[in-house]
Amino acid sequence: MIDLHCHLLPNIDDGSCSWEESLDMVRMASQDGIKGVVTTPHWIEGTNWQPETQTVRDMVAEMNRRVEDAGIDFKVYPGMEVGITADLAGLIERDRILTLAEGDYLLIEVPFHSLPLGMAKIISELCSIGTSAVLAHPERNRELQQKPKKILEYVKAGALVQVTAGSLSGEFGQSARRCAFEFAKLGALDFVSTDAHSVRYRKPIVSEGLKALEKAVGADKVDSVIDASYRIVSLIRQP
Ligand SMILES: [Fe+2]
Repeated sequence: MIDLHCHLLPNIDDGSCSWEESLDMVRMASQDGIKGVVTTPHWIEGTNWQPETQTVRDMVAEMNRRVEDAGIDFKVYPGMEVGITADLAGLIERDRILTLAEGDYLLIEVPFHSLPLGMAKIISELCSIGTSAVLAHPERNRELQQKPKKILEYVKAGALVQVTAGSLSGEFGQSARRCAFEFAKLGALDFVSTDAHSVRYRKPIVSEGLKALEKAVGADKVDSVIDASYRIVSLIRQP
């Protein structure tokens, strides 16, 4: 498994608080069978969380050096979790925001309460420049919890769906859990990620969520989300 949503870099958002904690998160992820992570610090227009793309790239290089020095077989890739705003395509083109592993997928944050107006249009605009929107944890959105089928409107517009492992294992309550399984049954669940923030809470653990997914919809679905995670970083999954 490659984790596509994780707040691994220190002191850049509400994730890790030090390089030591980041390394502990890598150790914990590695012990859970995760082979690599796309680190996705928040980027939200109009807030202090708008890191420069080059800062993230430099920090990822530093993190990889530290991982290697510690003798851990693990790779970190750059990315961001981007708050929904107008002209995401322009922000990508001007190198203001980072796609996942600098490829063709952009992780966009779905708010927890109401759904932003025009989200389907934003998804289609991204498609027109060859970038697929990956919706971060839509199962935690109140409106989608009430009407899970609404996710299909976004899938039709070109979005892929990332569910958080903790939602599948029940860490975020029954509504999020039910909604995540409903997405899986609708064929609208492409990735499972940790959205980890530390080693103490919201941990870099995916196995419990995958076990719950297997129990609910079968092992084939687990295989498909693992393979999909490798495709994002252009790696072939090793047996
Ligand atoms: Fe996140």
